[in-house]
Amino acid sequence: MAIPKSELGPETFSLANRVAIVTGGASGIGRATCLALSAAGAAVVVADLNADGARKVAGELEARGGRAHAQQVDLGDEASIAAMVEAAVRVFGGLDILHNNAADSDPALMAADGAIVDLTTEVWDRNMRINLRGPMLGCKYAIPHMIRRGGGSIINTSSASGLTGDVIRAAYAASKAGLGSLTQNVAVQYGKQGIRCNAVAPGVIATPALEANVPKAAVEVYVENTLTPRLGRPEDIAAVVVFLASDAASFVTGQILSVDGGLLAHHTAMAGIKRLSG
Ligand SMILES: NC(=O)c1ccc[n+]([C@@H]2O[C@H](COP(=O)([O-])OP(=O)(O)OC[C@H]3O[C@@H](n4cnc5c(N)ncnc54)[C@H](O)[C@@H]3O)[C@@H](O)[C@H]2O)c1
Repeated sequence: MAIPKSELGPETFSLANRVAIVTGGASGIGRATCLALSAAGAAVVVADLNADGARKVAGELEARGGRAHAQQVDLGDEASIAAMVEAAVRVFGGLDILHNNAADSDPALMAADGAIVDLTTEVWDRNMRINLRGPMLGCKYAIPHMIRRGGGSIINTSSASGLTGDVIRAAYAASKAGLGSLTQNVAVQYGKQGIRCNAVAPGVIATPALEANVPKAAVEVYVENTLTPRLGRPEDIAAVVVFLASDAASFVTGQILSVDGGLLAHHTAMAGIKRLSG
């Protein structure tokens, strides 16, 4: 097969004339991604359970000259997910980018997600329903529209927790690990039709969810185990999502990209050994 010639230019990184959906767009990483995709030229459907929050972010995008539509969605509800995809097509004429970003970060759910022996099936099922089944349904409804446009890019928000074991949050972690498999399966099944599917695996990112769910002392431990001088910001994830959505990443698919300041790149004993050597 002949490989089409191309040159890198500003348009390689541009998302002009693309249509994107971001779930969890009202807060944290999702909000930052909405702003970044819009700044790169995409029309953005800000989708969230929090309808007021989605409207507020859509308003921010419009105030900056972007095209935006706020859509309430419940990732636990299949009809609501189908309606979210239909809204993108109805309002903006098609769909090119899906950022499956939202997860259920309700503090009560997070607190109840502990060691396996203590885990209830309700906690397990809710994590799977929102964090894994929701993104799968997003793919199911988005892919046919993307294929109609000649392809598209799906970016799932996984987590460092989905790549390791931990003493807490086994259900959350397993749901995020499942997203890695969903990512690879979508990439394999629809790659020849122009669909790329990748995941970003954030490390510790300063968002409202982090403040609500992780005690300050634990955050200090994460800082010690991060190779960069600071923790992550939502914009660090948004920048990688924009790259993965753009033609600059047209040969990148089926990958789980850690964006974690090196949290998982070092020996597990690093922080302790550093302390020993003063
Ligand atoms: N913050 C971190 O340190 C971190 C680390 C690793 C992975 N992540 C992942 O990044 C993603 C975004 O996290 P964040 O920190 O920005 O969280 P956040 O709590 O700031 O935002 C999550 C958004 O998802 C929405 N949401 C929750 N349940 C929903 C549902 N059923 N349907 C639709 N929307 C729903 C919330 O209303 C909220 O606006 C999540 O998938 C999370 O697991 C975050």
